[in-house]
Amino acid sequence: MAEITLTMIKPDGVADGYTGKIIDKIIESGFKIQAMKLTRLSHEKAEEFYAIHKERSFFGELIAFMTEGPIVVAVLEKENAVEDFRKLIGATNPANAADGTIRKLFAKNIERNAIHGSDSNENAAIEASFHFSGLERF
Ligand code: RTP
Ligand code: MG
Repeated sequence: MAEITLTMIKPDGVADGYTGKIIDKIIESGFKIQAMKLTRLSHEKAEEFYAIHKERSFFGELIAFMTEGPIVVAVLEKENAVEDFRKLIGATNPANAADGTIRKLFAKNIERNAIHGSDSNENAAIEASFHFSGLERF
């Protein structure tokens, strides 16, 4: 059974013009796009999305970064989607990301790291509903 994961091309990736290249890599890697949109997070929505990190020292910077410009959000479908997508994007810090991963190719540093991927099936479902209503299968 195919699983889903939720991705966001972060404001740095969109502003630097990497959206197309990143989407190409996602499709080449076998993910099917169920839903996709260009949007922008409000301060409140960014705080809600990253609520798990609210006690962390970098929370304020993370919210400022995630609200600085448009993002591209997508629901992706594939067998083993969550785990395979985390492999495709690479480590949080691009300095530690494997060659060929999206963060190795397009991220600048541990914060401005180009892309998000859900970390569990449970969070993928929560994050997909957070960004999209009435999700349909195509
Ligand atoms: P994400 O949730 O965005 O897919 O990233 P992740 O699981 O690889 O990393 P996570 O620990 O969940 O951190 C969320 C995002 O916060 C920023 N960050 N900044 N300055 C720092 O030390 C720091 N650490 C994390 C990154 O944008 C990271 O992706
Ligand atoms: Mg995370």
